[in-house]
Amino acid sequence: MPVCILAIESSCDETAAAVCVDGKILSNEIATQVAHANFGGVVPELASRAHLQHIVPVVALALQKSGVSLDTVDAIAYTQSPGLIGSLLVGGQFAKSLALSLGKPLIAVHHMQAHVLANLIEHPQLSFPFLCLTVSGGHTQLVKCDSPTRMEVIGETIDDAAGEAFDKSAKLLGLPYPGGPLIDQYAKRGRGDRFAFPEPQIAGLDFSFSGLKTSILYFLQNAGKSHAYHPELIATPEEQRSFIETNLPDLCASIQQRIVSILLHKLKKAVVLTGIKNIALAGGVSANSGLRTGITEMAKLNHYTCTIPSLPYCTDNAAMIAITGYHKYLDKQFASLDIRSSAKATW
Ligand code: KG4
Ligand code: ZN
Repeated sequence: MPVCILAIESSCDETAAAVCVDGKILSNEIATQVAHANFGGVVPELASRAHLQHIVPVVALALQKSGVSLDTVDAIAYTQSPGLIGSLLVGGQFAKSLALSLGKPLIAVHHMQAHVLANLIEHPQLSFPFLCLTVSGGHTQLVKCDSPTRMEVIGETIDDAAGEAFDKSAKLLGLPYPGGPLIDQYAKRGRGDRFAFPEPQIAGLDFSFSGLKTSILYFLQNAGKSHAYHPELIATPEEQRSFIETNLPDLCASIQQRIVSILLHKLKKAVVLTGIKNIALAGGVSANSGLRTGITEMAKLNHYTCTIPSLPYCTDNAAMIAITGYHKYLDKQFASLDIRSSAKATW
C-alpha cells in the first residue's frame, strides 16, 4: 500500500504544507510572511498571528494541488522543534487536532533533520553514510548521516549561525532583512579577494562566526583602514557610508568568500576525519551561489560525491517535513496523540 503523508512546517516565518506519496512530493505550498521586512528581523508575535491566518488555506491548497483527499492521508507530520515557540504551536496544534479528528498517526519532526533529508527529495538513491553541511538562519552543523533516521551532529557553531553571519553583515552594510540573498546578488558583481577578512581558528569541527562579524564592523567603521578597533581611525558617518556605497559588490563578495571558506574548510576536515566522501548541503544558506559553486568545485577536485538540493528545498519548506515524516512512518516513529502530552522530536 502506498504511504501518503500530509506535512506542516511553521517554525519561523513561512507557513508551509506539502503532500508526499512513497517519498514523492505531490505538492509543496508556502506562504511567506512579508510583515517582518520593516522590522529588520522576524517579529515572533507577528509570525504566530500570520501562521494562524495562513495555515488553513495553505494546507487546503497543498491537498487540492496533490489531488489527495484527507481520508487517504496515512499520517500527519509537523515541525515540532526547533523554532519560534508561538509559530511552532500554531502548526503543532493544527497537526495534532487534524490527526485526532481523522484518527491518523501524528509524526513529530525535528526541523534540522528535515533540512538534511531534503536531499532525498530529488536524490532518493543517495547512498549512506554521507556528511551533510547544514547551514541555516539559526544553525550551522556538520551531520554524519547513517540512515534517514540515524544521524549525529559532529560539529556545530559555538556562536552565530552562517545565516546570521550573512544577515548581520548585510545589516552592517545597510541592506534590508533578510540580507543573505542580497549579499549573494551583490557578490556576483564583486571581487572576493579584494578585502581579506580573518578566518577564525577554532579547534575540531566546530564553527565560529562572531569574530568575523566584529571584524566587519570595525572595518566598516574605519572605512576600510583596519579590521581592528582603533578609536583614532574611526571615520565619520558620511565617510563610512561613502566607503560602503563605493565598494558594496567587493565587500559582499569578500564577506561571502570568507563565510564559504570557513564552512568548506571544516567540511573537508570532517571528510578527512571520518573517511566519508559522500557530502551534501542543506538549509537556507545552501541557496547561496558562492557556496554551491565552492562545494561543487571542492567535491570535483577531491573526488567526493556531492548532493545539493534545488533552491525551493534549501530554504524552509514543508516538502522536507513530508520526506522526513515518510521515513519516520516507515520506522513507526509516531508521536503521542494524548492531549496531555507534548511531543519531542528526536533524530
Ligand atoms: O533554513 P532557512 O530558510 O531558515 C532557518 O531554518 O533558519 O534559512 C534562512 C537563512 C537566512 O539567514 C537567509 O539570509 C539565508 O538562509 N539565505 C541565504 C541565501 N538564501 C537564504 N544566505 C546567503 N545567500 C543566499 N542566497
Ligand atoms: Zn530552516
